[in-house]
Amino acid sequence: MSFRGKDVLCILDFTRNDLERLFRIASSKFEGDELRGKVVALAFFEPSTRTRMSFETATLRLGGGYIGFDAAQATSIAKGESFSDTVRMLDAYADAIVVRHSLEGAAKLAAELAESPVINAGDGSKRHPTQAMIDLYTIWREKGGIDNKIYGVLGDLRYGRAAGSFLRALNLYSPRKVYLIAPESLRPKEELLDSLKMPWEFAGLNEVLPELDVLYVTRIQKERFPDPAEYERVKGSYRIDANLLKDSKESLIIMHPLPRVDEIALDVDKTKHALYFKQAANGVPIRMALLSEVIA
Ligand code: NCD
Repeated sequence: MSFRGKDVLCILDFTRNDLERLFRIASSKFEGDELRGKVVALAFFEPSTRTRMSFETATLRLGGGYIGFDAAQATSIAKGESFSDTVRMLDAYADAIVVRHSLEGAAKLAAELAESPVINAGDGSKRHPTQAMIDLYTIWREKGGIDNKIYGVLGDLRYGRAAGSFLRALNLYSPRKVYLIAPESLRPKEELLDSLKMPWEFAGLNEVLPELDVLYVTRIQKERFPDPAEYERVKGSYRIDANLLKDSKESLIIMHPLPRVDEIALDVDKTKHALYFKQAANGVPIRMALLSEVIA
């Protein structure tokens, strides 16, 4: 399909062919002027480091400009303005709107209100499609493909939208197996489990680590727990360190959408397995490819 003018709300709105086209563009895209004279609005109602700044960088590298905010408190929302009115204004100013919000469905609502394409930069605990694009792209580049690999997805699979989006995205491919590695209370919701098309099972990290080609680690999403006592029960319950990795395949890659808290020890950074900073850097070419396809 053509990306032009399309909203980017969920990774499953794309086909494998769409994504591979994006990956090919991203792997050759480090500059351009496709966004000259265009304005991207970045509406970040929730904290972000990489997502916001890589969208900014991607826009600047393509010759465009951006407007926006990184905290709703700095906007008229603090005076009582609604989300809808805010989106309507951004729509009048910009050629695309990138939305991050704590509530699931915020990006879809924005897309219903706005004429300009809306890109979901993470809303609620379910969707983060551009992160999934970066994750798949990273594996595609490092491993030469996404099919037939054994994946471990570790951490907060209940409230983590990066892990959820990654798992949904794997439905577009044919993984040999996916191991879901999570404390009981952080296992995925039924809806996500029911949607998985590949062979999967719950597992403990130590048992499956030697089999894995890719280990996708996530932090516990403290801010999304309905009950702080439940967070206290699970915090610090898993941690990867260099010593643990002596049982893994030489070619294992460790990914993480970042930010990390304490789930990957610093001594892993120096190992050949650590791919998370490269993964984060891939945010720029992927978002350049996406913006140039959607807007230009
Ligand atoms: C993730 C997010 O915001 O969902 N961060 C990101 O965009 N790379 C992951 C997280 O916050 O844990």
